[in-house]
Amino acid sequence: MLASPNNDRLLGLLLCSRVSAGVGHVTQVCVLPEFQRQGGGERLLELCAASLLATGCTAVTLTVTERNASAVSLYRQLGYHVQHKFDAMLWEKRWH
Ligand SMILES: CC(C)(COP(=O)(O)OP(=O)(O)OC[C@H]1O[C@@H](n2cnc3c(N)ncnc32)[C@H](O)[C@@H]1OP(=O)(O)O)[C@@H](O)C(=O)NCCC(=O)NCCS
Repeated sequence: MLASPNNDRLLGLLLCSRVSAGVGHVTQVCVLPEFQRQGGGERLLELCAASLLATGCTAVTLTVTERNASAVSLYRQLGYHVQHKFDAMLWEKRWH
């Protein structure tokens, strides 16, 4: 979690799960729009990677849509590279 200096506001969040013995998968990373471009996303990803490394992981994976230019740019800057491209299914449930 990324919090404000006096700890009273959540500014960003990263969720991660271990998908196999040595691999962690980032399922979500987000920073409030008004706090983006200040290094928060990078910090969350680097802390997550350090924590996974310290607990025996040797790789971190994540997925992103090709059109999400800011996230793609962030991941590239941190050394992530494309391993696999695939079509995804968008699921929906409607009430009205
Ligand atoms: C992706 C996201 C988490 C990045 O968070 P952030 O705090 O803005 O990222 P940082 O400030 O650490 O940016 C680090 C680098 O990422 C890249 N980057 C981030 N935002 C960018 C943008 N809008 N355009 C281009 N590059 C961008 C840049 O290379 C940047 O480095 P620089 O500022 O030195 O140029 C944020 O944009 C976000 O919450 N987006 C909405 C949710 C989302 O799409 N999450 C990813 C799901 S896969």
